[in-house]
Amino acid sequence: MILALLGLLNWWNRKNAYRSLNSLPSPPRHWLLGNLPQVLLAVRQKKYFQFLFDWSRKLGPIYVYWIGAQPILALSKPRAIEETIINGMKDGSLVRSHQIRDAWNDASGGAVIIGQDGKEWQWRRMAWNPEFSSSGLSKHIDIIDQACTQVIEKIRATPSGETILVDPLFVELTMRVTCCLVLGIPLHPKISSTEGPPLEVEKVYEAMSVISYRFLRIATGEKKWQKYLPTQLARDYWRAIAYLESFLASRLDLALKLRDNTQSEEIPITPMFRESMLVKIIAKEPQYNRSNLVSEIAGFLLAGTDTTAHTLSFATAQLSLNPRVLDKARSLVDQVGENLKELNYIRSIVKETMRLYPVAAGSTSLEATRDTVIEGIKVPRGTRVFWSMWAAGRDPDTYTNPEEFLPERWLEEGKDNHDLPFIQFGSGYHRCLGEPLAMIEATMMLAKLLRYFEWELVNGGASLENLQQNLLVYPSDRMPLRFRLR
Ligand code: HEM
Repeated sequence: MILALLGLLNWWNRKNAYRSLNSLPSPPRHWLLGNLPQVLLAVRQKKYFQFLFDWSRKLGPIYVYWIGAQPILALSKPRAIEETIINGMKDGSLVRSHQIRDAWNDASGGAVIIGQDGKEWQWRRMAWNPEFSSSGLSKHIDIIDQACTQVIEKIRATPSGETILVDPLFVELTMRVTCCLVLGIPLHPKISSTEGPPLEVEKVYEAMSVISYRFLRIATGEKKWQKYLPTQLARDYWRAIAYLESFLASRLDLALKLRDNTQSEEIPITPMFRESMLVKIIAKEPQYNRSNLVSEIAGFLLAGTDTTAHTLSFATAQLSLNPRVLDKARSLVDQVGENLKELNYIRSIVKETMRLYPVAAGSTSLEATRDTVIEGIKVPRGTRVFWSMWAAGRDPDTYTNPEEFLPERWLEEGKDNHDLPFIQFGSGYHRCLGEPLAMIEATMMLAKLLRYFEWELVNGGASLENLQQNLLVYPSDRMPLRFRLR
């Protein structure tokens, strides 16, 4: 009885603290639960992104919804989102919500860049930045090229006209590239290396799926200690972490041995492993050890596999539905080949795909650490801030003819147009570490597909309509295409 009264009092206090937000548009809500039932239903139906998008359309560019007495301020203008993240994190009035940070760290089995802030974030980010920068990646272009060629060979080996699900092909591509660059694992499945086990794409993917499901559960309220309960979900989680540890262990131990051994030149390793990011990072960053590297690399696989893969799937569909863009892109590739410097138009196809189909639609939210002002609105301490990436990408005041697929909008006299906001890789300090890698992979893969094949979208426009969201937004049908050699 006393507990119930205390709960009610707490609820009442919170309701009063957030009174200033009552003047904002808000979807109809239950007096006690707020919009929690609608949100839970949307998450269960895997349509949360659609839900936020629909609310933005109905309620305008800034509105509030409620999880019980907890308000969430939702934004949907790209500039407002960008400036809110950058300024709020700079002056400390906004921090990334602890629930999402906990979810990243806990699901990955330990601390990861994306789940850290302050000094713990800084040393990690400083260590990896040079390797993942465009210039750092320039020495690995051949590897990315070979990985894309492997995809081309797989399609070629399939009888002409047979349906191929391209999403899993792109998953394999992105996972192989990350594992090759970060861990020095040979790209080709038949080539083994002495440093550790080969990459078994399906097994790693299965482990990543278990981990991302755990991320979702923690982000939506499951407690961290629940992983210690004797449930099937907890057992699946521990099995996934154990598998990843066993997959990574020998390479991590070897890289640590290279760091700690003064005669490391004498330890026999392949040139690919010596050149891997792992060996380079460990050599210069003593704060990394076996345990925090397992989680960091699990985090990279989580952040860098499906994101680029689904983006590529959406891009192939968009090209199929937009013959004008397809013809222009193909004649460019026929002229300049796969020379990345000449492929600005293909890069703009990737960006335009991401504007309309932002896969990472809900990776972060912010929390006000003190009373603050956002877009002229008084926002009390404790308010969460979230945004609809889908509404932002389709904002008519920012992007003319927002529903049209117009890659040209990203170019100005053939060069990148920096005047348009591009927030699909995030904003501010935590903007995506893998952005240059994702752009190179996607550009090169599309250029090769255009060069060698014609393709047809088996399910037509439905492939872009039937979308679902777990951690990321993805095509439910895994994007079936029929290829024909040109
Ligand atoms: C199309 C592909 C991709 C998209 C749409 C994407 C999206 C994002 C977004 C929105 C964030 C910001 C999250 C936040 O603010 O908390 C982010 C962060 C991050 N991404 Fe990506 N990403 C992609 C590819 C990659 C790749 C290929 C990698 C690496 C292999 C990667 C690694 C990371 C990491 C480590 C962070 C955390 C950065 C930090 O906290 O400082 N991402 N990504």
